[in-house]
Amino acid sequence: MELITTYICKKFDIGVHDNMFGGTLMSLIDDAAASYSAQLCDTPRMVTIKFDELVFKKPVKVGNILKIYGKVQKFGSTSLELYMEVRKHNVYTGEQEIVTHTNVKFVRIDEEGNPIPISERVKQRYNERIKKFGKGLLTIDEKGIESENPSLN
Ligand SMILES: CC(C)(COP(=O)(O)OP(=O)(O)OC[C@H]1O[C@@H](n2cnc3c(N)ncnc32)[C@H](O)[C@@H]1OP(=O)(O)O)[C@@H](O)C(=O)NCCC(=O)NCCS
Repeated sequence: MELITTYICKKFDIGVHDNMFGGTLMSLIDDAAASYSAQLCDTPRMVTIKFDELVFKKPVKVGNILKIYGKVQKFGSTSLELYMEVRKHNVYTGEQEIVTHTNVKFVRIDEEGNPIPISERVKQRYNERIKKFGKGLLTIDEKGIESENPSLN
């Protein structure tokens, strides 16, 4: 699994029981998974086709830091299935608790909204990166991106 998003729960995320609203958490997962799948497949044209069951195991309160992790479960022909896991991160101890997890499936589409294949190059590159870096997204080193702060280069 790799870290995709970190989020701090705000007052406006809270529902009627002083916990983060479930729909908001679902939206955060969809956001993280969509951006992850787009980066992995080199295209913004990825649509969510399926969400598996979500069980909210722990409440999320204002100020809680959420970390959303993901990994590819399976590449299909036009689709990609991701395993997504949301954890509460304790900044004092570094301990994490699983809030919820699920599988989310995306389909690559063309300009007309029809499914099109995910290339073999994308699938192979993901597997190579996982082997080499333990993650599927580009690293700064791999891309040779320089920071605007010269002391960091
Ligand atoms: C995504 C969409 C283009 C797929 O069209 P479709 O006619 O169902 O396409 P296909 O039947 O050819 O299936 C495409 C892929 O989806 C998978 N799929 C289709 N129905 C599925 C279902 N009920 N459950 C799981 N996977 C499914 C197929 O297995 C196939 O994957 P594969 O090529 O890797 O085998 C269409 O369903 C759509 O536009 N849905 C709305 C998406 C959306 O608006 N999402 C929310 C906002 S992002």
